[in-house]
Amino acid sequence: MVDPRISIIDERMRGVSRIIAVSSGKGGVGKSLLASTLSLILASKGYRVGLFDLDFTSPSTHIILGLEETCPVEDKGIIPPLVHGLRYMSIIYYSSGRATPLRGTDFSNAFIELLSVTNWGSLDFLVLDMPPGIGDATLDVIRLMKRPRFLLVTTPSPLAFETVRKLVCMLKELSVPIVGVVENMKTGSSNIQQECRKLNVSFLGGIVYDPMVEETLGKVDSLLETAFAKETAKLLEYLVKTV
Ligand SMILES: Nc1ncnc2c1ncn2[C@@H]1O[C@H](COP(=O)(O)OP(=O)(O)OP(=O)(O)O)[C@@H](O)[C@H]1O
Ligand SMILES: [Mg+2]
Repeated sequence: MVDPRISIIDERMRGVSRIIAVSSGKGGVGKSLLASTLSLILASKGYRVGLFDLDFTSPSTHIILGLEETCPVEDKGIIPPLVHGLRYMSIIYYSSGRATPLRGTDFSNAFIELLSVTNWGSLDFLVLDMPPGIGDATLDVIRLMKRPRFLLVTTPSPLAFETVRKLVCMLKELSVPIVGVVENMKTGSSNIQQECRKLNVSFLGGIVYDPMVEETLGKVDSLLETAFAKETAKLLEYLVKTV
C-alpha cells in the first residue's frame, strides 16, 4: 500500500527553493559544524534558511546552535521554531534527550512523519545535516525530497575521501546533483583537489583546523567570528552563485 503521507510532502516543501544535503560517507569530518555555520551565515546575509537535523541517532546541531527552550508550534501541521534566524527542526524536540536508535524502516517512518507534518514556509535554502554514511538517510532524502543537492565533506585523509568517492559515484549514477567537495581540517596538501579533478567533481575549497571552534559551540556569535566561519563564508560565495 502507498503511504498516504508521502503524497503531501511535495505540498509541504513547495516554498523551499533549494535543498542542500551536507553529507559524507565518513563520520566526524565536520558535517554538523559546517551545516550549522553555513546556515547561520546564509541567514545573516538575509536569505531565508531552514536547518533540518537528519542525524536522528546522534543529533548535534542543537548543541552547536545553543538551542534554548524553543518548540515547534502546531498550526495545520508543525511550524519549525526560529533559532538564530533559522527555521529549525530536529528529532530532539521529540526524543526528550533520550537515545533514538532506529532501524531502517523506523528511520524512514520518522523521516516521512516529520516531512509530512512540517510546514517550512518560504525558504531560499533548506540545509540538511546528514548522519554519517551512505544509508537510509541518503536514500530517503533522494527518494522523498525534490531535487536535493549534495555538498560533500571530507578531511585530507584518504580514508575519508574514499567514502566521498563512493558517494560521488552513487549520486552520479542516480543523477543527483553534487554541489562539490569541501576539505575540512585541511593540511596544505593538494591531494583532495587532485582526486576531485579525477572524479570530475567540483572542489569547493578547504577549511583549516581551528582550535578555537570547540569553545564557541553553543555560542553562535563567537562561532561566527572563528577562522572556521570565515573560511566557510568564502566557500559560500561560490555556493550561492552556483546552486
Ligand atoms: N575545522 C575544524 N576545526 C576544529 N574542529 C573542528 C573542525 N571541523 C569540525 N571540528 C570538530 O570536530 C568534531 C566533529 O565535527 P562534527 O560533529 O561537525 O562532525 P560530523 O561529520 O557531523 O560527525 P558525525 O558524523 O558524527 O555526525 C566536533 O567536535 C567539531 O567541533
Ligand atoms: Mg554530525
